[in-house]
Formats: sequence, C-alpha cells, structure tokens
Amino acid sequence: MALKHKTPMLEELEKGPWPSFVADIRRMAARKPMCEDLLGLLELSYEQKEGHWKHGGIVGVFGYGGGVIGRYCDRPDLFPNVAHFHTLRVNQPASKFYSTEQLRKICDMWEEKGSGLTNMHGSTGDMVLLGTTTDQLEPVFYHLTHELGMDLGGSGSNLRTPSCCIGKARCEWSCLDTQEITYDLTMTYQDELHRPMFPYKFKFKTSGCPNDCVAAIARADCSIIGTWRDKIRIDQEAVRAYAAGELVPNGGSHGTAKRALDIQKEVVDLCPTGCMEWDGKTLKIWDEDCTRCMHCINVMPRALRPGQDTGATILFGAKAPILEGAQLSSVVIPFMKMEPPYDEFKELIEKVWDWWMENGKNRERLGELIQRFGMKAFLEAIEVQPDPRMIKTPRYNPYIFYDPADVPGGWEHDPKAFRERHHA
Ligand code: HEM
Ligand code: HEM
Ligand code: SF4
Ligand code: SF4
Repeated sequence: MALKHKTPMLEELEKGPWPSFVADIRRMAARKPMCEDLLGLLELSYEQKEGHWKHGGIVGVFGYGGGVIGRYCDRPDLFPNVAHFHTLRVNQPASKFYSTEQLRKICDMWEEKGSGLTNMHGSTGDMVLLGTTTDQLEPVFYHLTHELGMDLGGSGSNLRTPSCCIGKARCEWSCLDTQEITYDLTMTYQDELHRPMFPYKFKFKTSGCPNDCVAAIARADCSIIGTWRDKIRIDQEAVRAYAAGELVPNGGSHGTAKRALDIQKEVVDLCPTGCMEWDGKTLKIWDEDCTRCMHCINVMPRALRPGQDTGATILFGAKAPILEGAQLSSVVIPFMKMEPPYDEFKELIEKVWDWWMENGKNRERLGELIQRFGMKAFLEAIEVQPDPRMIKTPRYNPYIFYDPADVPGGWEHDPKAFRERHHA
C-alpha cells in the first residue's frame, strides 16, 4: 500500500532477514491513519536525527495516578493523527502466558480504540498499548476492566508492575513459585501501584534461581532470587551418561551433536569455589562450599538438580546510572522461605518502604538512599542483623563510625583532666 508520506529511509529497514517493524506498521497503516502518520513522523526523525515528541504529558484515568504515559507530537501540522499518541501500560499476567482468546479480545479493543500498535512487552513487563487519544483513555480502561478482566500497570513514583521468570510453569530449576509471588505482590500492593506515594519508583522482580532470567538483580529495587540451602541432588548414572557422550551437555546450547562431556575440564575446573571432585566414576560436591552459582546444573541438567529446601535471597537497591551511578542489588536477606501468604517478606518490605518514604529525598531511589545513609542505617531500620554474606569484602578504610553507647565513656570529654595528663 502506498503511504501518504514518503519514507525512503524506513523502507531500507524492510530489507534483511529480521522481522521488520516497518513492514508490520505499514500493514497496520492500511487500516489505521494513526500508523501512517507515525511512520511519516519517524521518517522525519530519521532525516533530522532528533525526536519529534513534545516534552512530557500528564494524562490518565480517574482514581489512578499512573499507568498512562502521555505524549504529543511536536508537528501536529504535518502529522495530525499522532497529535495525541498516549501509551497505556496494561498489567501482564505473570510470566506472560496468554490464551489466544484473550489476545484476540485485546486486539479487537485496541484496533477500535487505539492505533493497533503494541509493545509486547515493555521492559518492566507490562503489555504496552502504543498510541491513542486522551478521549479514548477512559473507554479503554472501562473495556479492560469490565470486558477483559485486566488492569493498568504502574508508572510514576510508585510500585511498578512486578514481573518474574517463567518459574515452575516450565523450568525444572525454579526454587520459587515465581508467578504466585508476582501475582500476590501485585494484588497486595494495588494501592501502591496505582496511586504514587513514594519518593520515586520502586520495582519488584522475581527469578526462580540464580540464572536470573528476569534480570532481577539489575532491574529491580527489590530482587527476589530463588535458591536452596540443602544439597544439590546428583544422579550419578546420568553424570556417567554425560561423560560417556550419551547425553548432550547444556541441553544442546552449544551444539546438539552427541559428544563426551569432559566433566573435569568443563564442570569441576570451572566451579567458582572448587568444591567438586570427579574420579571418572562418581561426582562429589562439598555443598557447604557451594555458592549455588548454577554452573554445574546448567551443564548437566539431566544429572544435577537444585536442593529441595528452597527459598529466596532478597537483594535491594538496583538502579540505572542516574543520578549516583548504576547499581546492582545487594544481598540483604541471604535466605528466606517464600510460602503464601508471604507474611515475613511483606513485613520486611513494609519496613523498607517506611524508611525510604520517611527519609528518601525527592526522586531518590532506594539504592541511593542506602548509599547516602549507609547499609548500617538501612539494616537498623529494617531490623536485620549484619551478616558476612552481605559484603564482598570488608571495608579497606578506617573511617568507622561508632555509636557512643558502644564506646566506654561515650563522647563526653573532660579537657581539664586531659591537660592534667598532657601539659600544653
Ligand atoms: C601509630 C601512629 C599513626 C597512625 C595510626 C596514623 C594514622 C593516620 C591516618 C589514619 C591518616 C589519614 C590517612 C588518609 O587521610 O588517607 C594519617 C595521615 C597523616 N599522618 Fe599519620 N598516623 C600515625 C603517625 C604519624 C606520625 C608520627 C606523623 C608525622 C610525624 C604522621 C603524619 C601524618 C600526615 C602528614 C598525614 C596526612 C597525609 C596526607 O593527607 O596525605 N602520622 N595518619
Ligand atoms: C600554618 C600551619 C598549618 C596549616 C595552614 C595547615 C593546614 C592544613 C590543612 C588545610 C589540612 C587539610 C585539612 C583537611 O583535609 O580537611 C591539614 C591537614 C593536616 N595537617 Fe596541617 N597545617 C599546618 C600545620 C601542621 C603541622 C605543624 C602539622 C604536624 C606537626 C600538621 C599536620 C597535619 C596532618 C596530620 C593533617 C592531615 C589530617 C587528616 O588527614 O585528617 N599540620 N593541614
Ligand atoms: S531464573 Fe532460573 S528458574 Fe527462572 S526460568 Fe531462569 S533458569 Fe528457570
Ligand atoms: S553450583 Fe556452582 S559453586 Fe555449586 S558446585 Fe555447582 S559449579 Fe560449584
């Protein structure tokens, strides 16, 4: 179909083997003028090498303080159909399992009330409905809630949409019911999600094991990562089958051809703590020295499995660079059992929120507040004892603060007594 606008640069991106977003949007443009103008606007941005959306945009639905990202084009004279181009975040089902029936209903609604374009999914996890006008926001919201059983996701200084790895639904390594946790947290904290009440944004992500397929450690203020505290389960027969070349290592990730696995070189020598031994017949693991890195299990999924006394390590503080530099989350709870209704976890989270809501500066992420006040203050506020597993190394500098209550005599100083012992 011929577009209303000329798009020679975008057309270059219809070439090549990867699915072309340009070809897809063009297909939709046959039915939706919004898509035609979006391509025209994008071509202009390609030409001029600058964005063509106005700054900001505050729109939404009544009752909620977030969930919609308002956007207005700065050339409505040329592209009137994208003068408004707001995005709705729709809370996705945990791990993004859908029925085709549900997806069809969403598509029909969005083709009628929006641009027909989506992002499946936003980086935080939401289903993103890309592009509609302000007058359609309440009708879309009504349809989502009354017809589709779906709600908006989060945006703004609030709890954002939690997300998780595929977990027990399809992964034999999952130490957590990641979907149940994600759904429970989402439902428990609906108020915090829909009505911004925090100094800044806050995210939960849950991975069933340390492979961390949802990248919780890097992308969530609170990272919940599955682990175990008993022994790795070993099927010695299966270990020997890998050594004999009967089973393909790494589930075939490095080639599906059968080959003998060199257990010494590819597993034992790569164990980060050196806690494994292989005598050619039997694999031994000294579990007390295992840091549960997943390497051996990843290489021999048919032979090794996580233990059965499972729970989560809870880490806090991950964030992107702005303002004070990027952070990965830091271990705060080395191990916590995670079973419904997750009371222990929720008590912890509420203490974290109380402290951050009270002390956090405007637009200060939790990770930055921990840096500013110190891990010691954070641990005191959430009533957690310091633990060697919280640090990679002890501090190297000697600038150590003491509580005067812990120092004999406190900070009271008698200069006269000092001068009697040390004459000026
Ligand atoms: C057991 C004895 C001593 C201890 C524990 C000690 C400890 C320290 C410490 C912790 C610093 C700060 C380091 C820094 O800011 O990075 C420092 C700096 C310094 N000390 Fe000592 N010190 C001792 C003896 C002395 C003596 C006897 C002198 C001179 C006669 C001295 C001269 C200095 C100087 C000039 C600095 C500043 C260095 C700089 O800022 O680059 N110190 N000392
Ligand atoms: C007119 C004389 C002096 C002036 C103007 C002076 C000035 C300074 C200044 C500006 C600093 C840096 C403070 C800071 O980093 O916040 C300093 C640090 C220091 N000065 Fe002096 N100073 C003088 C004499 C001395 C003498 C006579 C000694 C030792 C016998 C001395 C020992 C030190 C030491 C050890 C430090 C490091 C303190 C630390 O790292 O915390 N100063 N001085
Ligand atoms: S994080 Fe672990 S449990 Fe979750 S999908 Fe990845 S490998 Fe499986
Ligand atoms: S999980 Fe990692 S640390 Fe533990 S035995 Fe296997 S390779 Fe070693």
